[in-house]
Amino acid sequence: MAVPGVVVNLDVYLSQRRAEVERALERFLPTPEGPGATITRAMRYAVQAGGKRLRPILALTACDVCGGSSSAVQAPAVALELIHTYSLIHDDLPAMDDDDLRRGKPTVHKAFGEAEAILAGDALNTLAFELLANHPEGELYATRRTRAVSLVARRSGIDGMVGGQIADLEAENGAADEQRLHWIHRHKTAALLSASSELGAIHAGADDGACAAFSDYGRQLGLAFQIADDILDCTSTATDLGKTPGKDRHVGKLTFPALYGIDGSRERALDAVQRALESLERVGALDERLEALARFSVERAG
Ligand code: IPE
Ligand code: IPE
Ligand code: MG
Ligand code: MG
Ligand code: MG
Repeated sequence: MAVPGVVVNLDVYLSQRRAEVERALERFLPTPEGPGATITRAMRYAVQAGGKRLRPILALTACDVCGGSSSAVQAPAVALELIHTYSLIHDDLPAMDDDDLRRGKPTVHKAFGEAEAILAGDALNTLAFELLANHPEGELYATRRTRAVSLVARRSGIDGMVGGQIADLEAENGAADEQRLHWIHRHKTAALLSASSELGAIHAGADDGACAAFSDYGRQLGLAFQIADDILDCTSTATDLGKTPGKDRHVGKLTFPALYGIDGSRERALDAVQRALESLERVGALDERLEALARFSVERAG
């Protein structure tokens, strides 16, 4: 399954891109001051705890592959990471997955309190849309900004991540329903990842066919990514994951391993990676980094 040459290069690529994302995050995160400072501190705590930064890296890479400049997509890429981090803060709340550990640290509600965690998530979400609406600056990019706001709103809301999250919660301890499982993973995770690669294409000024291909690539990669997340919950450690393993089974989540076992899940994740690569191949946009990122989605250790 591993492709050693690509993976070694990917490590270097990922760490360079991560450093770029960290700098951009620092640039756009508010500083704690005034009566709202507790929430700013909680936002920073969650965002700066680390994370793979896969969504912004996908946007930056897609933009590059489509011939755009990375400065055009920097703030939009940050917006994706802010929305993702908000989704994690809320996902961990007692009313949702009730987790204590995230990115190797106590979850935001453990460190700051529940009301603070809810509000920090809300503030990250709204800051993200402020960035999408305002960047890149200039009249020339107005149409792209509008498309970006609309795309990310749709994929992170009820037709995307939020819809997937409620279906995920409602499926706990329910019947083994294959169709529902695919729906959940497509919405709770793949929707935002598909918005990430498509956003890069949009901000590069790619044509509709290429944007659709990048969307498709991200959706298939996202499905593979969530299947791997389900597998890692069964097979990995708290140290590698930075979160508590074994929780899905404990609360009766509807997951790929629950339905297909570990091997059957791996097979399905690899099939999704293959479909991701084919989406780009069809429009002649398959690049070594995008291939490596798709493989990384299932081969990662955490
Ligand atoms: C975790 O996402 C939640 C899922 C959608 C599976 P990541 O595995 O990307 O989390 P971070 O950002 O690296 O912490
Ligand atoms: C969460 O899926 C997906 C999100 C939208 C946050 P999980 O609940 O499996 O994510 P983890 O395992 O807690 O990171
Ligand atoms: Mg969850
Ligand atoms: Mg969870
Ligand atoms: Mg999980």
